[in-house]
Amino acid sequence: PDLFGKDRRNAKGWDLTDARDLESIAQARGPWADATFVAGPLIAGTVAGGAPYDARNPARPDDLLGQVTPAAPQDVQTALAAATAWQADAATRATVLNRAADLYEQHFGAFFAILAREAGKSQLDAVGELREAVDFLRYYAGQADGLTHPARGVFTCISPWNFPLAIFTGQIAGALSAGNGVLAKPAEQTPITAHYAARLLHDAGAPRDVLQLLPGDGATVGAALTSDARVHGVAFTGSTDTAKLIQRAMADHMAPGAPLIAETGGLNAMIVDSTALPEQAVRDVLASSFQSAGQRCSALRCLYVQEDVAPEFERMLFGAMDELRLDDPWHLASDVGPVIDADAHSQIADYVAAARAEGRVLHELNAPEQGHFVAPVALRVRGIADLKREVFGPVLHIARFKASDLDRVIADVNATGYGLTFGLHTRIDGRVQHVVDRVHAGNMYVNRNQIGAIVGSQPFGGEGLSGTGPKAGGPHYLARFTGAQAQTVTR
Ligand code: NAD
Ligand code: ALA
Repeated sequence: PDLFGKDRRNAKGWDLTDARDLESIAQARGPWADATFVAGPLIAGTVAGGAPYDARNPARPDDLLGQVTPAAPQDVQTALAAATAWQADAATRATVLNRAADLYEQHFGAFFAILAREAGKSQLDAVGELREAVDFLRYYAGQADGLTHPARGVFTCISPWNFPLAIFTGQIAGALSAGNGVLAKPAEQTPITAHYAARLLHDAGAPRDVLQLLPGDGATVGAALTSDARVHGVAFTGSTDTAKLIQRAMADHMAPGAPLIAETGGLNAMIVDSTALPEQAVRDVLASSFQSAGQRCSALRCLYVQEDVAPEFERMLFGAMDELRLDDPWHLASDVGPVIDADAHSQIADYVAAARAEGRVLHELNAPEQGHFVAPVALRVRGIADLKREVFGPVLHIARFKASDLDRVIADVNATGYGLTFGLHTRIDGRVQHVVDRVHAGNMYVNRNQIGAIVGSQPFGGEGLSGTGPKAGGPHYLARFTGAQAQTVTR
């Protein structure tokens, strides 16, 4: 198939400015408003199960979603013993993945409800999440037939809570499309989304021994699944620190050639110069830093504004921030939902409190009392070097720069060692090329926001501390899930 050609289509999605689409979402989600769910291991064998725990809504902790049974150590061993590559031919694998994409779309009401109640996803985010998951399934299905090398065997796929459906599905679809078996370990915070999705993948025809689900702790279940010689590769998305732990475990326990696909954190910058269109740049800064409550690896963390326009630009930005609606994402008009849990809330709140004590808060909203809401906030910094780590929430750092300092700003951005997304707002054509040629980042965005890469159009992934490549949703992703084999046949 022509993956970049006119035959490829991304999922249609929903138009949140259209009253009929909003009504259809509200109708489809309705029955799931107070439904309870169960999640647990889906393995090819008898489940022993660990100690069950309650899953709660981060916007309304009194909303009990259901019970989660994590995988017991014995379940990990059962799954490892049963795990196998997928023997089906490419056409069958593609049919199953395409069928799963159709099922995902048919189940949109349940997914939107679970994404809001388990992950605190606003409706805009939930639509993006479901579309991306469906796109991954169809995009990788479209490549199955063109693979020239055999599957590696069994992949462990470890996903984060901030894209509990899209990244969870993308890793699995990549591994399955290439003919591997999968041991999927979703994040502790979002097993219900994963369980619902894995059941649809099974319903679509993924065999029970080829796709197994093992919810549980990273330190126990995740570690066991990434330190076993019966696993032939790992697809991981999460923090840079965890990726390093996994890399060490793999080196100790797996064959030297076992690949690690790691998509990790970012310290992402945007430059707005004095030629930028301010209304457009304000809109894009707002989306880049506060959509998903800032809980995206791609999110803008440090904004550089050219000093001649900075006072007026910041005034406009803070005015626009005031229009954001912080609310339970069950309400369709909510722009910013909660952060994922109480731990994330207290870490971010402590960080903002320290900045407040240093007099660096430029602008801050108020957060609802109930739920794990963090108010979007803008903090003054001298430059990106003041950010010692990725703060995974709605916290925007703002620095000012002189035009003559542009290359120093670029050098500072590169010196972080991360290289995920980068944004530039300018109307100077020559400057676009100058900056893009020098900044080390996997995804560059000029005169737009820097989040929400689209499968097939914007292959996503970083360099340095941000990841190993290959880019997800791009033409080279699947190659990492296959081996290399030269076939010489003499007759
Ligand atoms: P995390 O690293 O804490 O957890 C990610 C996953 O790893 C979870 O499933 C967790 O259970 C598992 N895990 C933890 N310890 C493990 C271990 N020792 N062995 C095996 N697995 C283990 O990250 P998080 O807090 O869930 O996610 C947020 C991070 O993910 C941020 O840094 C964000 O930038 C990054 N992220 C990156 C991308 C990308 O595409 N580059 C996308 C989304 C999120
Ligand atoms: N792919 C996600 C984004 O671009 C992480 O925001």
